[in-house]
Amino acid sequence: MTKALNVGLIGYGFMGRAHSNAYAKVNHFFDLAYRPVRKAACGRDQKNTQAFADQWGYESIETDWRNLLARKDIDVVDICTPNNLHREIAIAAAEAGKMILCEKPLARNGAEGQDMVQAVEKAGVPNMVWYNYRRIPAVTLAKQLIDEGRLGKIFHYRSVFLQDWTIAEDLHQGGQALWRLDVNAAGSGVTGDLLAHCFDTARWLNGDLDSVTAMTETFVKERMHNLTGKVEKVEIDDACAVLSRFANGSLGTFESTRYARGHKALYTLEINGEKASIAWDLHDLHRLSYFDHADDSIVRGWRSIHVTDSDMPYMDKWWVPGLQIGYEHSFVHQVADFLEGLAKDEPAAPTFKDALKTQYVCDAVLDSAKAQNWQKVRQ
Ligand SMILES: NC(=O)c1ccc[n+]([C@@H]2O[C@H](COP(=O)([O-])OP(=O)(O)OC[C@H]3O[C@@H](n4cnc5c(N)ncnc54)[C@H](O)[C@@H]3O)[C@@H](O)[C@H]2O)c1
Repeated sequence: MTKALNVGLIGYGFMGRAHSNAYAKVNHFFDLAYRPVRKAACGRDQKNTQAFADQWGYESIETDWRNLLARKDIDVVDICTPNNLHREIAIAAAEAGKMILCEKPLARNGAEGQDMVQAVEKAGVPNMVWYNYRRIPAVTLAKQLIDEGRLGKIFHYRSVFLQDWTIAEDLHQGGQALWRLDVNAAGSGVTGDLLAHCFDTARWLNGDLDSVTAMTETFVKERMHNLTGKVEKVEIDDACAVLSRFANGSLGTFESTRYARGHKALYTLEINGEKASIAWDLHDLHRLSYFDHADDSIVRGWRSIHVTDSDMPYMDKWWVPGLQIGYEHSFVHQVADFLEGLAKDEPAAPTFKDALKTQYVCDAVLDSAKAQNWQKVRQ
């Protein structure tokens, strides 16, 4: 008999849908002690929130997140709102004794993130941040190969996250859908939105970053603001390039932009070790490229591993070898790991505390770009 865990979801946009899909599916595929129940969806507009609740199977709705937190029948609060609300909601949810699942980035900056870590630690509530790329089977397999020592000493970590959706000069900033261009809502541009993913995966695969130097650019300097109706300065970074040193001595390069015409979500990573190299590409997410120097020279070369066999991470839960899964499954895996962690009293990563370290990397990157120097990453 599974134990019900009542979820209150705040924000029903892109991530609200991705998480709701995961709650609906997880117990069909994973044997778990807990079962997430879609108890309440929260949004500001009653009609739209009700329509979302009907479509995604939520039992009730709220139009003010404070009312959701006051409900005794909510066990877990899932924060899927823009970044400027993460801190306030998370602290209130911790004070109300709720478990918290918060979307990434943890906050707009490290200072906000610290307050959130303090709040969950004081309240002693289980918490996790949705850095979902760790749970794409090919990426989890990369972690397994590195931990087994197959790459040997690591020399290089290289990662990019490229998009092209903000090139138009007449695109507005602020409000629904465009909050990512408004520094007050987002905290930063590509650094917090996209590089935060690259840094989280990098820290997970290759350990902490020690220092960074970065440059950023804002290509369109002013945009009409949807909330004020005025043309306002754009204060987010449209593009960011980073050189870094990891604590293990390896070198890292990271680049992100929303001005790479032709790229929608090109998240790639490549790791070069003494014995082997690994590469992965979100556009082909079920494959892991692997080069092993120990192979016979006449057959040595990059191989493309189709990550679908049942002995590969998470794949025994899905279909049969040869049949791939996709983006949404990373969220199913993350919910499954959270629920398994609860049952074993071993929190699933990344917790708020772990995600704060990624926030510190973002802070150091933005400070470096501003000061035009190298910055140590706060540990
Ligand atoms: N893990 C990932 O890969 C990933 C991908 C996309 C977004 N995100 C993160 O998820 C969060 C949400 O992003 P999104 O793409 O879903 O945005 P979105 O704009 O699609 O959805 C945001 C939702 O929050 C709601 N909202 C805003 N203010 C609110 C309030 N006061 N009360 C209740 N609801 C409110 C909006 O109405 C909307 O439904 C962000 O922190 C973002 O960085 C993570």
